[in-house]
Amino acid sequence: MAMGVGMSEEGMRPVTELSRTEAVAEWADLVQAVLAANQAYHRDDAPTISDADYDRMKRRLAALEAAFPDIEATMNQQSPTSMVGAAPADGFGKVAHRLRMLSLENAFSDEEVTEFDERVRRFLGLTDAVAYTAEPKIDGLSLSLRYEAGRLVQAATRGDGELGENVTENARTIRDIPQSLTNAPAVLEVRGEVYMSHADFSALNQRQAAAEEKTFANPRNAAAGSLRQLDASITASRPLRFFAYAWGEVSDPLATTQAAAIARLNTLGFQTNPLTMLCAGPEEMLAHYRRIENQRATLGYDIDGVVYKVNDLALQARLGFRSSTPRWAIAHKFPAELAWTELLGIDIQVGRTGALSPVARLQPVTVGGVVVSNATLHNENYIAGRDSKGNVIRDGKDIRVGDWVQVYRAGDVIPKVADVDLDRRKIGAEPYVFPQVCPECGSPAHREAGDSVRRCTGGLICPAQAVERLKHFVSRNAFDIEGLGAKQVELFFKDTLLPVKTPADIFTLAARDAANPLQKLKNRDGFGDVSTAKLFAAIEAKRTIPLDRLLFSLGIRHVGEVAAGLLARHYSTWSAFEAAITHATPGSPEWADLTAIDGVGAVMAQSLVEAFQNPAERAAMDALVAELQVQPVVARGAVDSPVAGKTVVFTGTLEKMTRAEAKARAEALGAKVAGSVSAKTDLVVAGPGAGSKAKDAERLGVELIDEDSWLRLIGE
Ligand code: IVH
Repeated sequence: MAMGVGMSEEGMRPVTELSRTEAVAEWADLVQAVLAANQAYHRDDAPTISDADYDRMKRRLAALEAAFPDIEATMNQQSPTSMVGAAPADGFGKVAHRLRMLSLENAFSDEEVTEFDERVRRFLGLTDAVAYTAEPKIDGLSLSLRYEAGRLVQAATRGDGELGENVTENARTIRDIPQSLTNAPAVLEVRGEVYMSHADFSALNQRQAAAEEKTFANPRNAAAGSLRQLDASITASRPLRFFAYAWGEVSDPLATTQAAAIARLNTLGFQTNPLTMLCAGPEEMLAHYRRIENQRATLGYDIDGVVYKVNDLALQARLGFRSSTPRWAIAHKFPAELAWTELLGIDIQVGRTGALSPVARLQPVTVGGVVVSNATLHNENYIAGRDSKGNVIRDGKDIRVGDWVQVYRAGDVIPKVADVDLDRRKIGAEPYVFPQVCPECGSPAHREAGDSVRRCTGGLICPAQAVERLKHFVSRNAFDIEGLGAKQVELFFKDTLLPVKTPADIFTLAARDAANPLQKLKNRDGFGDVSTAKLFAAIEAKRTIPLDRLLFSLGIRHVGEVAAGLLARHYSTWSAFEAAITHATPGSPEWADLTAIDGVGAVMAQSLVEAFQNPAERAAMDALVAELQVQPVVARGAVDSPVAGKTVVFTGTLEKMTRAEAKARAEALGAKVAGSVSAKTDLVVAGPGAGSKAKDAERLGVELIDEDSWLRLIGE
């Protein structure tokens, strides 16, 4: 299973031990979890998981993708490892970044930094040292400023990296952002971080509290909340600052090195970080990291690590990008922050798939400047001192109510319990007994073999599962019904006059309301003519829904957005899908057809079949579909390039670039790079010394070209 929110990494099976089916299922789950976290963080400014958990999920995804390199391509879904952030919030105009705004790969140890340098040199085929800049990683939000003819014409947030929000008017109110530049390139996009100093942050919170307005959890949230005000005069009243550290489109290069380019930005009038240093290699980079770490507490603003960038811009260009991060930079993160406090109790929350998640209720404690009173305890094993595979963690120490526990936070709102102090354990403290029945519906809660998560077996009869399923159903990537969010769903779920217990009930809401002459929805508190009409119209608008969205919305375990897309493109219509899954028992032709979809394994197939065989689930789906017009989905077209969709094999010695560089270029152009030649290969690019693969190509009649012809073909 996938590493759910807050689960420990120690518990994960090494990716090399996973079957492809398991890897794909885990990948699909993780993609969902990361996408949801992205939305919460970037779009809603309301993180739902800690940075450390997020980083761990992304690392696991990256590990899965490294071990099964074709996962992303075969699932036909972009992995969050190759995306940045979330789509922009409503309310601001959208801006398409001419050059994507990227994210950074993370390193958490000295070794990972050394490995980064080795990777860079290997990619470039260099044995000599490479120089890097090292500078603080500012904990704020990134902003791109476009200057044309020296005038600030547009400011945009990162958004999902491709589409950001137009916050030009707000940015104009920031003192550190020049309105005009002299001696600048005709077109210049300056990128950097908007942040708030500690002093300004606490003063702002005091003002907010005095005015009985919302206070902010930390300076980053305050900066994000202040920049993304629809009323720019509010932004103007907030003390925001800006450091420039990168650039996007430029009509003339700023310089030939990173360090000189930053110096040039400084000359142009931007604040650049005074702790930026040029380093001759990993040793100096790590020494500068320690220096910055030592100054961290006295800087007066939040930083969460150190960013290293290849200094030579020509080398940066050769290194290029992975799907969402540059190969020429890495963020070396600081370790998370810790505090000790008392565990007052353990609550159990029941999720959409029935997972019972233990939550620690804590004596409130400040961890890295934020007051924490809840933390995740992951699962039953974790409380007992075991990882999800049953191996001993924390020296086997279990966690009991009343214990002193160490709380760990990596910059975000859902912290974790990391350790327990046995010396302070109270006499008579009893081991925690994990409930064997669902606290919400009383159904037995089971653990499947090899799964560390106990799940309620109540399915849709469990109110907690049912309501979480509804929340998923209306969520942004599912039905996304305006005016019907998680809060409203909870209210309707409990409503006695107009109850919504299953998705189909949403689509009968208007008719039921019309049929009830007494208590009309529009006469209730919080509704009214306009909002009721709007809600009903929004529901009507979603009666027509594409098959892939519908499949995702059903909330079937293991069927995330990626899988929903695969299934929809394979079956195209609801009736074909429904007929197939209804008959797909293991061994049947339908089962063989289902599991033959690249990216659909036995785990997902089983989960689909079980959902269709469960009478309550089936009834809910049938009732829903009866209310809808499901739009068929057709397969996608390919990227526009001469090699898009082609399978290419490189063999022999390449002379103009390393194999890694060639592969990266080809993939960026939409080609699939394979390791061996088969009848499916479209093209073999052979350098000197090509052996059996070139022969295979001839034998199979596959087109064979040399490196120069390849470069001509791709227009280099
Ligand atoms: S360079 C192509 N430098 O960190 C690389 N980013 O985790 C562009 N950040 O999106 C980023 N301080 O918002 C860079 N000195 C720094 C940074 C920095 C903070 C942020 C930035 C980026 C995120 C990636």
